[in-house]
Amino acid sequence: MRVLSGIQPSGRLHIGNYFGAMRQHIQLQAEHECFYFIADYHALTSNPAPQEVFQYSFDVTMDYIALGLDTQKTVFWRQSDVPEVTELTWILSCITPMGLLHRCTSYKDKVAQGISPNQGLFAYPVLQAADILIYKSDLVPVGADQKQHIEVTRDIAMRFNNTYGEVFTIPKEYIVESVAVVPGIDGRKMSKSYGNTIEIFEPPESIRKKIMRIVTDSTPVEMPKDPDKCNVFALLKLVASDEELADWESKYRRGGTGYSEAKKRLAELLTEYFRPFRKKRAELEKNPDYVRKVLADGAHRAKAVALKTLAEVRRAVGLDMANV
Ligand code: ADP
Ligand code: TRP
Repeated sequence: MRVLSGIQPSGRLHIGNYFGAMRQHIQLQAEHECFYFIADYHALTSNPAPQEVFQYSFDVTMDYIALGLDTQKTVFWRQSDVPEVTELTWILSCITPMGLLHRCTSYKDKVAQGISPNQGLFAYPVLQAADILIYKSDLVPVGADQKQHIEVTRDIAMRFNNTYGEVFTIPKEYIVESVAVVPGIDGRKMSKSYGNTIEIFEPPESIRKKIMRIVTDSTPVEMPKDPDKCNVFALLKLVASDEELADWESKYRRGGTGYSEAKKRLAELLTEYFRPFRKKRAELEKNPDYVRKVLADGAHRAKAVALKTLAEVRRAVGLDMANV
């Protein structure tokens, strides 16, 4: 099956992104043909500084390679290196009813967050549909917040196929329900927009300091504690072995162990977990030409697929003069 997903280059990636999305992306490579890209056209909808767009795109690429992207097998590219997707966006826009976009909650959410309500932000789901359909994707692994966009994509694809003939594969979303939302250091969902993240590749000392600041309740050291209500325990679950986790659970319930002890161990475990990846990441930083080569090769492979689909679409809608 062809698996496709996009990642916005809107900041440094954090452990919520890793455990909630990237780890699944990496694992899916073993069994599927994977297409992953950096959604830099999508990032423009919030008007970032130009140097941020390419710097974060480069950072995300290095992060993925360091975390286990198989650059031989998986196609990995920058969305804007295959501009054909914007032509498909236009063609799809012309069959997308306004009502379908009006119903999308992400536009309203983003405007409520303070992003200026521009046309790109409103039409964002159509570009996402073009991303998915131009590569004839079967499965789209996304977080629950993106489910609606996959439904919009399916709707647009079915309309197109009904009107112009069977061109598109109808994709399915693939939501990894087993991964709970990773909490940030203030206890809310870890998110760039809340400034409560632990970045995957920030220096171990900085990780330790952030972990020591994780919000916990004021239960005294000697009293029993509820692991299910603790942000530190929620993060321990991601990196501790089953055995060690069971041990922490009983320490919590018994009382006599303070949160700071759990935090110190969490800092050690997190640093240990990402240590091999960190080494690889440092090597990549010294070799930007290699990173550029991965992106160029990915763009080349993605473009071949995109051009083929676009030719079918142009023919179907009447833009191909060879039909005259
Ligand atoms: P952010 O909230 O930091 O802006 P994004 O919305 O760009 O993150 O998310 C990118 C991917 O990472 C999405 O698939 C999303 O579901 C996943 N993700 C982000 N934050 C978390 C979290 N705290 N827990 C689990 N998954 C997350
Ligand atoms: N909108 C997605 C997000 O914010 C990123 C994205 C763009 C995407 N195009 C996509 C995800 C296509 C899956 C498929 O996370």
